[in-house]
Amino acid sequence: MSGNSSSSTAIIMKLFPLLSFLFFTLGTVLSNPQRYESIFNFGDSLSDTGNFLLSGAVAFPVIGKLPYGVSFFQHATGRCSDGRLVVDFIAEAYGLPYLPPYLAIDNGHDFKHGVNFAVAGATALDPQFFKELKLESLLWTKDSLSIQLGWFKKLKSSLCTTKQDCDNYFKKSLFLVGEIGGNDYNYAFFVGASIKKLRAFVPVVVDAITKATSALIEEGVVELVVPGNLPIGCSAAYMTLFQSPNKADYDPKNGCLKAFNSFAKYHNNQLKRALEMLRQKYPHARIIYADYYGAAIRFFHAPRHYGFFNSTLTACCGGGGPYNFNNSARCGHIGSKACNNPSAHVNWDGIHLTEASYRHIAKGLISGLFSTPPLSSPL
Ligand SMILES: *[C@@H]1O[C@H](CO)[C@@H](O)[C@H](O)[C@H]1NC(C)=O
Ligand SMILES: *[C@@H]1O[C@H](CO)[C@@H](O)[C@H](O)[C@H]1NC(C)=O
Repeated sequence: MSGNSSSSTAIIMKLFPLLSFLFFTLGTVLSNPQRYESIFNFGDSLSDTGNFLLSGAVAFPVIGKLPYGVSFFQHATGRCSDGRLVVDFIAEAYGLPYLPPYLAIDNGHDFKHGVNFAVAGATALDPQFFKELKLESLLWTKDSLSIQLGWFKKLKSSLCTTKQDCDNYFKKSLFLVGEIGGNDYNYAFFVGASIKKLRAFVPVVVDAITKATSALIEEGVVELVVPGNLPIGCSAAYMTLFQSPNKADYDPKNGCLKAFNSFAKYHNNQLKRALEMLRQKYPHARIIYADYYGAAIRFFHAPRHYGFFNSTLTACCGGGGPYNFNNSARCGHIGSKACNNPSAHVNWDGIHLTEASYRHIAKGLISGLFSTPPLSSPL
C-alpha cells in the first residue's frame, strides 16, 4: 500500500467508526491466509515425512541418508525426494508447519496443526491381500491405509472430545487421503504381473480408498482431498523395467509407455466415479479429487516451461542405464550418484519425483486447476 492510501485510510477511520471496524476486519481476513488450521495426511512415499524411517522396518534404508534431502533440508528426513513433498508445499501455502510424522509425536512434537500418517511403501489394501497373491514378502511395510486410519482414530481423542468440539476442529482441518494405491500395483508390476491381470485389482484398490474416506467422514471429517495416481508410464523405473523394442508402445507426445499411463488413467477414472458416489452419500462433506496425473503429465509435454531442462524421463539420482535407473544400484546405493541440478529433473530416484516437480503439482492443486471441486484458496 502506498503512503497516500494509508494516510487516507487513517482519515476515514477517524471519521467513520463503523468503516474503520470494517477496514480492520477486512484487513485481518486478507492478511491472515490461514483457511485451514490443521492438515492430516495418509499415504505412501509420495507424502511420508518420516514414518517409514522411524518404523525401523528396514535396518539401513537409503532414504535415511543423503542425497535424500539434499536440495532443501540438507539432511535426510525420511522424505523420498531431494526436498519437500506436495504435502509440505500445501502446509506452507496455508501458513502451517510441516506435518510431524505420527511415529514421532510422542517425542514432544506439537500436533494440533496436524499429523502425517503416511508410510513409504504403504498399500491401500491390507497385507492379507498380498499374502493370498504370494507377494507379501515384497511389502516394505505392513502399515497399510487401514493401519494409518487406526492411528488417526487413536489420536482423535487428544485432538477433540465432544461432538461439538470435534465439529469445530474438523471444520478447519484438511484431510489428504493419498496418494495411496500406487504401490498396490507397483509391487505386482515389478514382479511381472500383467496389466490385464492388474486391471481386475483396480476396483478393489479403489474400494479401499473410498472406504477409508467414508470412515473419516463418519468420524466427523468434512474437508478431504483424494489424489489419483501419477503417470507411471513416464517414471524412470517403469521406462527401464518395461523397455520395449516396439516403437508403438511409446506415446509420441511424451515418450512415455502408453499402456502404463492408460492403466493409471483407468484407476483414476474409477476413483473419480467412486468419489462422485461418496459426494451423493455425504453431501455435507467436501470431497476433492486431486488430479496428480494431469498436474504431472504437463512436465512431459512442456518441460522447459517448468524449468525441466534435462531429459524428463531420466532420473536425477541413479546407477546408470538409459533412464539412469538401475535396480542393482538404486539412488543412495553404491554405484549410484545424484545429478548436480535436481530441479532440472522431473524424476528424482526413478520412482519418486523431485522437489521441483512436487512444488508444481502442489501449485496446481492449490490454484484449483487440478483439484475438483477446487481446494479452498489460501487467500
Ligand atoms: C542430464 O542428466 C544426465 C544424467 O544425470 C547428465 O549426464 C547430463 O549432463 C544432464 N544434461 C543436462 C543438460 O543437464
Ligand atoms: C547397474 O549397476 C550394477 C551394480 O553397480 C553395475 O554392475 C551395472 O553396470 C549397472 N548397469 C548399468 C546399465 O549402468
